[in-house]
Amino acid sequence: MLFLQLLLLVVLLPGGDNKDDFQEPVSFQLIQISSFYNHSLEENLGSGWLGELQTHRWVSNSGTIIFLWPWSKGNFSNEEWMDLEDLLHMFSIGFLQIFHNSVSQRQLEYPFKVQLAGGCELHFGEASVGFIRVAYQGSDFLSFQNRAWLPSPNGGSRAQHVCTLLNSATVAREILHKLFFETCPRFLTGLLDAGKAYLQRQVRPEAWLSTGPSPGPGRLMLVCHVSGFHPKPIWVMWMQGEQEYPGTQRSDFLPNADGTWYLQVFLDVEAIEAAGLSCHVRHSSLGDQEIILFWERHNSMGLIILAVIMPLVLLTGLAFWLRKRWTYREFPSTSLPLE
Ligand SMILES: *[C@@H]1O[C@H](CO)[C@@H](O)[C@H](O)[C@H]1NC(C)=O
Ligand SMILES: *[C@@H]1O[C@H](CO)[C@@H](O)[C@H](O)[C@H]1NC(C)=O
Repeated sequence: MLFLQLLLLVVLLPGGDNKDDFQEPVSFQLIQISSFYNHSLEENLGSGWLGELQTHRWVSNSGTIIFLWPWSKGNFSNEEWMDLEDLLHMFSIGFLQIFHNSVSQRQLEYPFKVQLAGGCELHFGEASVGFIRVAYQGSDFLSFQNRAWLPSPNGGSRAQHVCTLLNSATVAREILHKLFFETCPRFLTGLLDAGKAYLQRQVRPEAWLSTGPSPGPGRLMLVCHVSGFHPKPIWVMWMQGEQEYPGTQRSDFLPNADGTWYLQVFLDVEAIEAAGLSCHVRHSSLGDQEIILFWERHNSMGLIILAVIMPLVLLTGLAFWLRKRWTYREFPSTSLPLE
């Protein structure tokens, strides 16, 4: 176990500078979601993503790219961005037109949705990998490999039809290949460098405890909440003394609006076992320290609150009783005797 913890620290601790600081593989991708309603109406949502962080928005009607961070341009010049905008806009118009044409040719029917994701992955020390994938009505439909479009195994005759149309545009295929297999990795490397300070920022987590819905009679669901941390790798565990308590379960990582992360770690235990347990949090932002929250103290907080509330309840009761007596004295003619 010590070995595991050491390994974790090696993974978590910021290393030397440059590429080693990022978890690999790192990807950049453009996503376009198109809803086709009829031959004259379609809606498009376009965005650019560095891993799980949105870096660009794309206004498809005008083909304008919006940079969401000061470093979203990477090291590309404004001229290069203008060329890219033109290329992507042209490609998008041609691509969407092929789907409209497929309806005219009775291969597809309105309404339908098409999702496109195209980008590249960097595997440091190896060649980068470009990819373009297309989904139709939420299922795999096409992909782009070796400069050609391929139908997905479950895409059926529709996918073959659309592929044939797309593959007939030979120049577009060359451009796409260049865009996603050459320009994209070059851009991604520059982007990682430009956004370094933000992408590698260290933000300390906050942690607190609560109980979840009771899993059954005599049992407790202990919840350890950890929020506001960056980067994403984190170690959270329910422990009994120095021992990891078996059965710890994690929620998914949820994003906070400020780009930090939130995680819940659950443990279903016998209520009597809970007292000896604590939640431990290790994160690169904490250095070699850890956050430890003891269930017992969390519970005694509950007792303190109870200890404050109970006298308040008693005082309120007393005040109410006195008031009633007072009212009775003021109006002696009242026919309701109190005692
Ligand atoms: C296309 O769909 C929109 C919204 O449903 C509708 O307002 C419009 O009239 C339709 N156009 C045609 C040509 O059917
Ligand atoms: C941007 O950075 C990448 C990676 O360091 C480099 O290959 C490229 O030449 C730089 N400039 C441009 C305009 O891409």
